[in-house]
Amino acid sequence: MAEKFTPTPIVDGDFAGHDFVSTKQLSKSTIDILFEEVDSMREIYLRQKGINILPQYQVDIKFDEPSTRTLKSFVAAAQRLGASVLYTPDKEFSSVSKGESWDDDILANAQYADAMVMRHPQTGKVGEAAALAPIPVLNGGDGIGEHPSQASLDLYTIRQKLGTVRGKTITAVGDLFHGRTVKSLADMATTESEGDLRVNFVAPEEMQIPQEIVADLRSRGVDVNLYDRIEDPLRETDALYVVRMQRERFGTPENASIGEETLAKIKKILQFGSEQQKRLMTPSFVDTVAAMGEELSRLDESTDAYKKLYADFIGLRYAIPDVKVIQTNTSPTDNPYVITPELLRFAKERMIVMHPFPRVGEIDIRCDSDPRAVYLTDQMKNGMFVRMALLVRIMGKTTLAAA
Ligand code: NCD
Repeated sequence: MAEKFTPTPIVDGDFAGHDFVSTKQLSKSTIDILFEEVDSMREIYLRQKGINILPQYQVDIKFDEPSTRTLKSFVAAAQRLGASVLYTPDKEFSSVSKGESWDDDILANAQYADAMVMRHPQTGKVGEAAALAPIPVLNGGDGIGEHPSQASLDLYTIRQKLGTVRGKTITAVGDLFHGRTVKSLADMATTESEGDLRVNFVAPEEMQIPQEIVADLRSRGVDVNLYDRIEDPLRETDALYVVRMQRERFGTPENASIGEETLAKIKKILQFGSEQQKRLMTPSFVDTVAAMGEELSRLDESTDAYKKLYADFIGLRYAIPDVKVIQTNTSPTDNPYVITPELLRFAKERMIVMHPFPRVGEIDIRCDSDPRAVYLTDQMKNGMFVRMALLVRIMGKTTLAAA
């Protein structure tokens, strides 16, 4: 069993040899230096497409969840720096399918590469890999946890388009409970602005950002406001950050294995929770979930019985991600918020509309031609420059003198 990962702070832009698992590792000076490196990568790209600064280096890409932008931009970034990538597109082709343990798989992959970029459906799992692997591990998204390289490109885009994040208003809208990109962006923008920031979180109550995050941002000076309608905060917004309903996370394997601790939390919510939470938590629901949880923990994950029971569990469309218990009335396919040109008429003239993508109907395609929409252009492209900068820095190099 891998030990728990404690993120080591990255000081004064010195990423050399560091894992990059959490935005909490970053100080303001580190973010500023990283962004100088990103500026340089952008210039290099515009001038000559790339720079051969990491020849012979190998970057292992280990993605256990679907990805388009994160995966392709990391591959493009590595190759534009002269590095090669090691990539097994399908788990079927790795020895895990023969029964190899996850730990051994990580250790084996780490023997061949100089850095590993990892995405995993389980929160905290990339941190475990980082603790285990003898090479730097970069978090390409872990469950409902973090997505620090995405936050880096999002914040870079805000700075590029609005000059600074300081004093600005970011409004995040959608499934903020499961969305990892919003959590990382809120944290990183707080560090960069030193708390001189307003953040509006707009979500149906059951998908609202976790309370711990609100408390953390407030303790660092951020003016945090919660809404369930987009119309009011839209008018004052400088960066509108839209995310999708995370349909696939409405019941994930980690949520299905309900242990004693989660059950105790469910009971606590029944006792002390809000009216809304209590309504969602009928005693029969708790009993059903408890029985299923016990049964699932007895069964072997590879058996058909487990798969069937697990499918039934998903069929309930309940998510029990640790503390918060959701039986949502919002179908995962519904979009309670859809950004349209009509809605954007109420937004400032100088603001930007962002989305980490994929979008699944949250932004009307008629918005794409609005000059304020950056999601299909700069925001995506910056992903490659940011990842070039991260890889170079983690390998202990820089292009700043050369640029
Ligand atoms: C996001 C992710 O994977 O967290 N996408 C991305 O990396 N650009 C957002 C999402 O899946 O909704």
